Amino acid sequence: MSGTPRNSRVLLVTGAASGIGAAIAQLAVARGHRVMLTDVDEQAVQARALSLGGRAAGCVLDIRDPAAWDKAFEAAEAAFGAVDVLVNNAGITHTGHARDLSPRQHRDIVEVNLLGTITGTCTAIERMTAKGHGHIITVCSMTAFLPLPGYATYCGSKYGVRAFHHSVALEERDGPLNFTIIHPPSTRTGMLDQEMADPACAISFAEKSYAPEDIAETVVDAIVSRPVEVVFPPVGGRVQRIAGVFPRLMRWVIPLAEARGRRHRERLIAAKAGARRPGTARPSDRSTV
Ligand SMILES: NC(=O)c1ccc[n+]([C@@H]2O[C@H](COP(=O)([O-])OP(=O)(O)OC[C@H]3O[C@@H](n4cnc5c(N)ncnc54)[C@H](O)[C@@H]3O)[C@@H](O)[C@H]2O)c1
Repeated sequence: MSGTPRNSRVLLVTGAASGIGAAIAQLAVARGHRVMLTDVDEQAVQARALSLGGRAAGCVLDIRDPAAWDKAFEAAEAAFGAVDVLVNNAGITHTGHARDLSPRQHRDIVEVNLLGTITGTCTAIERMTAKGHGHIITVCSMTAFLPLPGYATYCGSKYGVRAFHHSVALEERDGPLNFTIIHPPSTRTGMLDQEMADPACAISFAEKSYAPEDIAETVVDAIVSRPVEVVFPPVGGRVQRIAGVFPRLMRWVIPLAEARGRRHRERLIAAKAGARRPGTARPSDRSTV
C-alpha cells in the first residue's frame, strides 16, 4: 500500500465497532498501522472501518465461532497481508447479582469473554507461529484481580482470561510470539452505560473512569513496547491487585467502595437529568466519575 510507514503492522481487532475496540482501531490507523476491524455487528463494524480510510477494513466476526476466526484472519491477510498483532478486545457483561441472572446470561458471558478469547488466541498462535512472528494483546479487566458484587460471572470470566493468557504465554515462551495483557478499569463506553442503568453495579462508579482513548493509547503503545501486563491506574491498580489476594481485606474494603460508588452514581444520574432539562448546565467533567 502506498504511503505505508516502514514500521506499520497489520492488526486484527475484535469488538471494534464501538467502545475501546473502535478507539484502538482509530489510533492504530492514525499511527500508520493497517487494521482489520471485526465485530459481531457487521453493519456497525463496516461503517466504522469506512470512516477510518484506506488503512482500515471491516468484517464480521463472532468470536465464539471458530470457523469465523479463520475467515477473519484470511480477510485481513487478503486486505493487508499476514496479521502481526491480534487484539482480543470483544467482551460483554449482563448486569446484576448472580442469583438474578438467567443460566443463559451466565453462559453468554463465559462463551464470549472466556471461550471466544481462547478460540481466537489458539487460532492466532497457529497462524502466527507458522509465519514466524506475532503479538497477541488481550484486553482483560481489573476485575481479573478483584472480585466485585454485581459482576460475579464477568469477574470469573476475566480471572479465567488472565489465567489462560499467562499460561499460554509460558507454554509458548520458546516460540516466536509476544503476549501482552492489559486491564482497563471503568471506561466510558456502552458497557459502562449499561452498568449505570443497574444499581447492582454501583461499585463501578467508586473510582474515576477513563476515556476509551486512554486505554487505546496503552494498547497501541504496547505494539512497540511489548509489556507483559498493564494495570490501571498505575498505582491504584497495583493496590487493587494486592487487595484481591486477601479475602478478609476484600470483605472490609469492597462494601466501603460500593457505598462510595452508590453516591457517585446517584450524583451522575442527577447531573444527567439536570443536563437534559432546558436551561440547565451540562455536567462539566465526566472524568470525575
Ligand atoms: N467499559 C469498561 O468499563 C471496561 C472495563 C474493563 C474491561 N473492559 C473490557 O474491554 C473490552 C471492550 O469493552 P467496551 O467497554 O469497549 O464494550 P462495548 O460494549 O462498548 O464494545 C464491545 C464490542 O464488542 C462487540 N461484541 C459483543 N459480543 C461479541 C462477539 N460475540 N463477537 C465479537 N464482537 C462482540 C460488540 O458488538 C461491541 O462492538 C471488553 O473485553 C470489556 O470486558 C471494559
